[in-house]
Amino acid sequence: MPVSVNQGENIRTFESGPGISQYTQDLIDRDSRVFYHQTLSSPVFNVVEKAEGAYIFDSEGNKYLDLHGNGVHTVGYNNPKVLAAMRKQIDEALMFAPRRFTNQPAVELAEKLTRIAPAGLTRALFCPGGSEAIEMATMLAKQVTGKWKTLSYYGTFHGAGFQAISIGADPHFREGLGPLMPGAIHLELPDYYRNPWGWTNQEQIDEEYLRQLTVQIECNPGIAALISEPIFYNSTVPTRYFWEKAKAICQAHGILLIFDEIYTAFGRTGKMFASEHFVTPDVIVVGKGFGGGVVPFAGIIGREEFNVLGQRSIGHYTHEKNPFCAAVSGAVIDFVVEQGLAEHAQELGAYLKAGLEALQEEFEWIGHISGLGLNLGVDLVKNRSSKERAVDEAHRLMAFCMQRGISFKLIQGNILNLKPALVITQEEADFILSTLKEGLRAL
Ligand SMILES: Cc1ncc(COP(=O)(O)O)c(C=O)c1O
Repeated sequence: MPVSVNQGENIRTFESGPGISQYTQDLIDRDSRVFYHQTLSSPVFNVVEKAEGAYIFDSEGNKYLDLHGNGVHTVGYNNPKVLAAMRKQIDEALMFAPRRFTNQPAVELAEKLTRIAPAGLTRALFCPGGSEAIEMATMLAKQVTGKWKTLSYYGTFHGAGFQAISIGADPHFREGLGPLMPGAIHLELPDYYRNPWGWTNQEQIDEEYLRQLTVQIECNPGIAALISEPIFYNSTVPTRYFWEKAKAICQAHGILLIFDEIYTAFGRTGKMFASEHFVTPDVIVVGKGFGGGVVPFAGIIGREEFNVLGQRSIGHYTHEKNPFCAAVSGAVIDFVVEQGLAEHAQELGAYLKAGLEALQEEFEWIGHISGLGLNLGVDLVKNRSSKERAVDEAHRLMAFCMQRGISFKLIQGNILNLKPALVITQEEADFILSTLKEGLRAL
């Protein structure tokens, strides 16, 4: 089946599998006619008919181990515990609570979330999606510090809202909009593998990026917050030293540290929150997997002393205390804790990474492997010394894996982004490794 992949830079078309039926083609055509097209979303690959556990199933009866899932499939699609919580909530006939009333699922969720959060993060606020949660975290930082500038990293994505695209720095979301949020200052994203100086010494690299952070802070008085994912979107894992030092620099200047854990929270990196590998920030933002892959739900958790806005608003979303969404998210947390998913992600992630490292010994294509837990990035290069990105080869490998039942996304054109549901088994990890091996051999 010919599929087109829109990775933002350009659209590539290739054969991904057997021919498709009239039903599938019609739905793809109707999708193209009725939705506004936008980068990274159009055109679509295929039609999903079912999503279960770690898999999606297309309308041609093909099954794919989903290593992307938009990050929502942390506890697996159609997780039985999540579905049971949904049914219970429907039976209790409490699907919405108007503002100024509270409800048990919402209060229980906030209590549960703050209980599992790093110490000191004791208050929560919910909203429908990750972008809104980023808005809330940013507004909270501005309100409590009395400052309005922000620091964040080039190339990152923190959501589609106006503040979120201003903080994020992916050009696809910013071009053509005129002036964005004033005071959104960007820093170069730390990169230990492909930095502009060709350095490999982590300490030296950390010091340079920390120096840049300090320079920006000193040249731009009035910064409210540094907003970043603790582990970057391309699976680069900063050192603990980097985040400790960055936090100390921020603290010294009255700047809050906000970690966007929309992708990484709830066990993905081998800890309940990725922050736990590094430092406790002032605010953590959650989303995606928080809604169990069935409802859109997100939120923030932060420090007690930020509870000073009784006469202002930083969120005020209609679904702020939606009992149905809260029941789902409560079940997600219970499942992650009861099943020890963080430990599982740590063990299986280490297993998968070791397998990828073995492939790296065999295939020159693999320049670098990064990530923690079940959040891994495999950087394909044309040449290990030049580190030139193997973009075409990465697309061919992606198509090969698609044909054999594995779906993943590419980052920066050449990095295989491997983020499966945390419920995958060792056999499924072996399937990923053997398929990649076949695909690399075919390259
Ligand atoms: C790191 C990160 N932050 C924020 C968002 C925005 O979340 P949402 O799409 O739920 O608004 C995303 C979504 O891809 C994300 O990956």
